[in-house]
Amino acid sequence: MTDDILTYTSVKNEMLSGSSLSIDEEPEILSLRPGSISDYIGQSEVVETLKIAIEAAKLRSEPIDHVLFHGPPGLGKTTLAHIIANETGANLTVTSGPALEKGGDLIGILTHLEEGDILFIDEIHRTPKVVEEFLYPAMEDFAIDFVFDKGVNARSHRYRLKRFVLIGATTRVGLLSAPLRERFGIFRTLDFYSEPELVEIARRSAQLLKIEVEEDGASELSRRSRGTPRIINRLLKRVRDYAQVRGDGLINKNTVQEALALEGVDNKGLTNLDRRYIKTIIDFYKGGPVGIEAIAATLQEESDTLVDVVEPFLLKIGFIVRTSSGRKASEEAYRHLGYHIRNGSH
Ligand code: ADE
Repeated sequence: MTDDILTYTSVKNEMLSGSSLSIDEEPEILSLRPGSISDYIGQSEVVETLKIAIEAAKLRSEPIDHVLFHGPPGLGKTTLAHIIANETGANLTVTSGPALEKGGDLIGILTHLEEGDILFIDEIHRTPKVVEEFLYPAMEDFAIDFVFDKGVNARSHRYRLKRFVLIGATTRVGLLSAPLRERFGIFRTLDFYSEPELVEIARRSAQLLKIEVEEDGASELSRRSRGTPRIINRLLKRVRDYAQVRGDGLINKNTVQEALALEGVDNKGLTNLDRRYIKTIIDFYKGGPVGIEAIAATLQEESDTLVDVVEPFLLKIGFIVRTSSGRKASEEAYRHLGYHIRNGSH
């Protein structure tokens, strides 16, 4: 069980245990992640909510309310959990819904939390039902109810927990049960970042990585990062490699274009998978509407990957629309992929 849990002591800023690192825990990503709220760029309304909640909790000397973050991958849900831990001086325990297989897994974690400690559950919508049921009294009454024996001999014992803070993250708030959703005092959705915000993030990361990026290089990166800090940081590293090996180390618009052409990232930031997804709708299903399971089957991809990773940005830029009868490709998508459009027909 503990293999899947990363215990993270924010004060020491050091990982105590953990073998399989998720993408968010990779050392390079960690090093670029802002550690304090004042270093955080973008999501201004979310940041304001958190600043107020943290400040108010400090004034009252009590832990903050449980927090639920919702939004596509790579927008900062995990980062914000780390920041809340740092700002409140709390210990952070990181786990995920799928890693909590049995009620005992969660009980083991909950009973070790100290007053004010933070438990971060990533992909909380994938928490098994049996585990979720332990969360209700834990979140509401800071207690766990054990039931011994069965039938007429059944007895229940309530075990008191320390007052902890649960931070949940989900890409699919619709899959969260209503009782769980309602137990979070703070619920915020993270949206895609604007290009100026991404430019600022690229500049900050470039400084931390000690690389030089020209103005037009940072702009080009921001246009190709699908509104996502995790993507701009990853692309920045690929462009750095390219600039050092094929160029003179300097990163400008040209370097970004050449390096990202090799990565299969086009001028709107679409990847091979994005383009295959759109082409499937257009070529196989005459532009749609088509159900997600049919697209997934044709592409031989998991439909969850398409819904969580591919679709949010394509919906955001209006390349696809979701109707009650399925997904459709928009005219902009046809144009972007070089299809001719005549008389409204494709
Ligand atoms: N690195 C990744 N996301 C960031 C953000 N929102 N602000 C600053 N640096 C970041």
